[in-house]
Amino acid sequence: TEETLVLVKPDGVARGLTGAILARIEAKGYALVDLRLVEPDRERLERHYAEHEGKPFYEPLLEFMMSGPSVAIRLAGNRVIEGFRSLAGTTDPTTAAPGTIRGDLGRDWGLKVQQNLVHGSDSTESAARELEIWFG
Ligand code: GTP
Ligand code: MG
Repeated sequence: TEETLVLVKPDGVARGLTGAILARIEAKGYALVDLRLVEPDRERLERHYAEHEGKPFYEPLLEFMMSGPSVAIRLAGNRVIEGFRSLAGTTDPTTAAPGTIRGDLGRDWGLKVQQNLVHGSDSTESAARELEIWFG
């Protein structure tokens, strides 16, 4: 079996959508292995988002991710990495397909960073790296 890191980002927690998002994950059949509420400091986020350093949305992204708590989830199942990415939908919530978390629950709020409710690791390497960052 495989594991991935899922985050319900600060917009998801603040809007009270944690339960709705967890319900979709559980209904799909993936297993919750560990789950915690986290208020990440800048250093943790710099590690998590190292690949985006220098991009125009990098600073707004870190600020957004420090604006409130996130729910970090260790999720398990066969092909869960690509399976959760599929559940989440594409990055931009305006055009993410209806039926996905971002497509059904997200929108453009006119801010500098795309507030798109969730994060999911994008490869086995990312999953191992990110699970270490959020769960140690
Ligand atoms: P994650 O699952 O959160 O990693 O999303 P992703 O893999 O779909 O996107 P990516 O890793 O490319 O970017 C990380 C986060 O940065 C996104 O989830 C958005 O919150 C934000 N972001 C990415 N690209 C853009 C962009 O072009 N503009 C803006 N404003 N924000 C972006
Ligand atoms: Mg990503």
